[in-house]
Amino acid sequence: MKLLITGGAGFIGSNFIRYLLKNYPDEVLINFDKLTYAGNLENLKEFEEDARYSFIKGDVCDANAFIEAAQGVDAIVHFAAESHVDRSIHSGHEFIHTNVFGAQVVIDAVKELKIPKMILVSTDEVYGDVDAPKKSKDGDPFKPSSPYSASKAAAESLAIAAIRTHEAPIMITRCTNNYGPYQFPEKLVPLFITNLIEGKKVPLYDGGTQIRDWLYVSDHCSAIDLVLRKGTLGEAYDIAAENDPEVTNREITETVLALLGKGNDMIEPVSGLRPGHDQRYAVDSSKIRSLGWEPTVTLKEGLVSTVTWYQDNEDWWKRVKSGDYQHYYQQHYQTS
Ligand code: NAD
Ligand code: DAU
Repeated sequence: MKLLITGGAGFIGSNFIRYLLKNYPDEVLINFDKLTYAGNLENLKEFEEDARYSFIKGDVCDANAFIEAAQGVDAIVHFAAESHVDRSIHSGHEFIHTNVFGAQVVIDAVKELKIPKMILVSTDEVYGDVDAPKKSKDGDPFKPSSPYSASKAAAESLAIAAIRTHEAPIMITRCTNNYGPYQFPEKLVPLFITNLIEGKKVPLYDGGTQIRDWLYVSDHCSAIDLVLRKGTLGEAYDIAAENDPEVTNREITETVLALLGKGNDMIEPVSGLRPGHDQRYAVDSSKIRSLGWEPTVTLKEGLVSTVTWYQDNEDWWKRVKSGDYQHYYQQHYQTS
């Protein structure tokens, strides 16, 4: 299979490329990525000489460039997006441009080039928060709370319209919070780990009572892979660890503190940074589990290995935090 992966230089996209190259020796992968602040080719440097992998620097909002890149592929997995809720609250423009307009460009390419399959990687945040013990599930109304989640819901609406109107061969996945290696240190888990290694406090928002259903990134990758091979066109799949008991932000913070040998005095209580802060996300993942998927990494195991990864890869995240990683493309991919 020849696959086009958008946003493959980001956190989940780069883990997905690594997952496919390790598990499918004959697959050919094209990584199409604009390299925004969140895109980092150092995430995939071990594959630079691999004949099965190629990189195209491009913007999903550039229809001509995208059509050219997508010629002859068997499937597109569309990860590319602005992904950080806090940034979207401060300025939503880029979120609407990339996450909505960019999604339509990808959908149009699928129609025009008659690409057999596309996955739109969406998020559980489209459902908004939900009171316990209820879990959101496919078919529930969307109730997004931030420009980010609204833009993802809009992209889903465009996909659903294309499925109905053009029988576009699209599937949608909606996953809960991911964590693991190569996550940009702006999201809770990598920000807190790297701050603590640097001796800084961790900004815990709004009392830390909120609930997220954390999933180790390789389990998200295996779920998308399964949808790609066994999913039904036109369907949407909710993906979640369904951690039991559920875990508050305060609890996950305390686990990270303990793994790094730090005390709770390193918590800096913060409020007002995330207006509209969703209290609890929970989705019912029975549909993808009926295809044969289940998570393989427990939250405790995943956090231990994530903390270890950031301890072992200080060069990577220090270059990200300092901004030096942004020179990597010029140094390694451009000859003039
Ligand atoms: P990320 O921010 O780490 O990476 C996004 C990637 O997209 C970057 O490489 C960036 O350069 C690229 N990109 C951004 N705008 C682009 C454009 N206009 N054209 C081409 N490339 C562009 O994001 P992530 O956390 O890896 O998330 C990937 C996808 O998964 C997103 O669609 C996100 O909504 C979804 N998702 C994320 C999570 C999570 O917990 N991180 C959970 C569920 C779903
Ligand atoms: O649910 C899936 C979503 O998970 C994805 O669609 C998004 O792309 C991804 O960014 C993530 O969104 P969240 O907003 O849930 O992730 P974040 O790590 O930013 O925040 C997790 C929780 O931690 C949230 O309740 C806010 C809180 N938080 C976050 C940060 C960055 C803090 O308390 N302090 C922080 O500094």
